[in-house]
Amino acid sequence: MEQTRRPRRLRQDGIRELVRETTVSPSDLIAPVFVDATIDERVEIPSMPGHERVPLDQITERVEEVLATGIEAVILFGVPQEKDAEGSRAWAEDGVIQEATRRVSEATEAYLITDVCLCEYTDHGHCGVLEPGAPEDVTLTVDNDPTLEHIARTAVSHAEAGADMVAPSGMMDGMVGALREALDEAGFEHTPIMSYAAKYESAFYGPFRDAADGAPSFGDRRHYQMDPGNAEEAMREVALDVEQGADVLMVKPALPYLDVVRAVDQSFEYPVAAYNVSGEYAMLHAAAEKGWLDLEATALESLQSIKRAGADLILTYFAEDVARRL
Ligand code: PBG
Repeated sequence: MEQTRRPRRLRQDGIRELVRETTVSPSDLIAPVFVDATIDERVEIPSMPGHERVPLDQITERVEEVLATGIEAVILFGVPQEKDAEGSRAWAEDGVIQEATRRVSEATEAYLITDVCLCEYTDHGHCGVLEPGAPEDVTLTVDNDPTLEHIARTAVSHAEAGADMVAPSGMMDGMVGALREALDEAGFEHTPIMSYAAKYESAFYGPFRDAADGAPSFGDRRHYQMDPGNAEEAMREVALDVEQGADVLMVKPALPYLDVVRAVDQSFEYPVAAYNVSGEYAMLHAAAEKGWLDLEATALESLQSIKRAGADLILTYFAEDVARRL
């Protein structure tokens, strides 16, 4: 048999790198960092090996550690001193994120993104104000429109503290528009919004909820986060966020939703971010601990797959480990 086409020619050493279509570089990656106002020392997160919650007075040092690996961007998550029904510590001028943001933006060169959500700040763990009657009536859920005002205030307080970009993650209808309007009014028309545009109600967030102490105390998030069965709905969600002024469009989680990453990349002329979430990180670590998977190889392959699907940016707990090796 005569073979004129031999794909293996380009897989030989010397040429394989030259024809590689997708490469991951540190400038594609955003590292999540947890700051906790309730602790004085770093606390390991058991379900996320290698990650810690750090006290406020170590947040600058923690971000410097990330920068030393070649990563330039971090996303900050906060655990507040106190929680209440409204989540009022989320927009407090001396709140944990505001304080951390001031310190990090003054002392480092990091590109600082803040997660804008209320679930870590409310005593019931939901991402906004509850409908009247909840939580006694557990069939009730988050009241959308009153929540918008709170997240808009929160975003402005982050920008005032020095955040370079804000990332609303609560999946409220109209959240991007509410943030854009409030930021513009406060003089932050140059602060971009990375919207968690297609965020699914995923069981892969488990370890994060331990890390940030943000699990709902009753019910779940299915009335605001997206149903995992839906892809067309993701297109509608993303289109709404684009109309409302989103600058970067995020799909979350990443690996179980690469079809959605691809579809968003093809349908919208905007940068696409994908969030390689806590459960995606934890499962590779768990398998590697058992000796069943090679952690370094599977981590890099995961990030490469996410980029290949169409993501321009990847939020990942592997950021530092992978950047160190690149
Ligand atoms: C807050 C938020 C969550 C994550 C990021 N921002 C938790 C949630 O929606 O329950 C999850 C991140 C992860 O699992 O890595 N709304």
